[in-house]
Amino acid sequence: MSEIISVKSLVKKYDNDFIAVKNLSLKINQGEIIALLGPNGAGKTTLISTICGLASITSGSITVNGLDVIQDYRKTREIIGLVPQELALEPFEKVINSVKFSRRLFGKKNDNEYIEKLLTKLQLYDKKDNIIKSLSGGMKRRVMIAKALSHNPKILFLDEPTAGVDVELRKDMWNIVKELKNEGVTIILTTHYIEEAEMIADRIGIVNNGELLLVEEKNKLIKRMSIKILKVRLKKPLKKIPQKLAKYKLKLIDDGNSFNYYYNIGKEKTGITSLLSDMNEIGINLFDIQTEETSLEDIFVKIIKD
Ligand SMILES: Nc1ncnc2c1ncn2[C@@H]1O[C@H](COP(=O)(O)OP(=O)(O)O)[C@@H](O)[C@H]1O
Ligand SMILES: [Mg+2]
Repeated sequence: MSEIISVKSLVKKYDNDFIAVKNLSLKINQGEIIALLGPNGAGKTTLISTICGLASITSGSITVNGLDVIQDYRKTREIIGLVPQELALEPFEKVINSVKFSRRLFGKKNDNEYIEKLLTKLQLYDKKDNIIKSLSGGMKRRVMIAKALSHNPKILFLDEPTAGVDVELRKDMWNIVKELKNEGVTIILTTHYIEEAEMIADRIGIVNNGELLLVEEKNKLIKRMSIKILKVRLKKPLKKIPQKLAKYKLKLIDDGNSFNYYYNIGKEKTGITSLLSDMNEIGINLFDIQTEETSLEDIFVKIIKD
């Protein structure tokens, strides 16, 4: 696997002194789909912007295809396509003209055959002469992708491609991404939907507070993170977790009336039986038990704790 992007000790401090990316290093392989997963404000868009050369770097370095993104900006930018988080389109332009224009911005000659194939692939061909304003939200997103791919880039960044998108379009989007991968395009997408990362990524990176908490092959990560929550409601509230139960790392909630226990369904032993028997032994009575799937946020909490 050859490396196509290398981010080394990247720090990004904004003008107001806010540090949005803290000493982040990441290598991305040619042809992979990597999902950067993280809550709002984690620094995902900032990271992408620095790789694409749209935001300055405070310290550290980034290379794309072996070239420095600052010194060789034109060359690195030429092989990158970016679908930004916010819709940014010319409302009164025809679809095809808008896509052709994007290509020209990279100094590339018009290539009708390529553009028409691209529009067909994105199911936009029928709409090529419509003005953008007349399209549905989903179609507009496709136009954004077509524009990002207009200059035939090797790398595609999709910043929250399916935020606020309906289920149908989300699936279409995933298919488009997979097709592009098959053609050899390296894809970096950001998302705060764990499901999305699960569906399409080869590797997942978790970003929080400007830090990359981990990067791992998806299958390994999912196995490790198959965490569920056992919510135990108590007959009598607790002020704090008794020493005897400390090893379960319980989280007291609802004013001490309940606690959460996190367990891994990928492991042979969940620890539930011994928790219940330890509770019994020290006379803590339960009122009710339920289990919940973890949200991404819970997983963050768990990862940070560990
Ligand atoms: N131009 C800016 N100036 C100051 N702070 C910014 C700027 N852009 C983003 N931020 C802050 O940097 C943090 C990371 O933002 P962003 O990269 O957009 O996160 P994400 O894409 O993961 O939601 C946020 O706290 C955001 O408010
Ligand atoms: Mg963002």
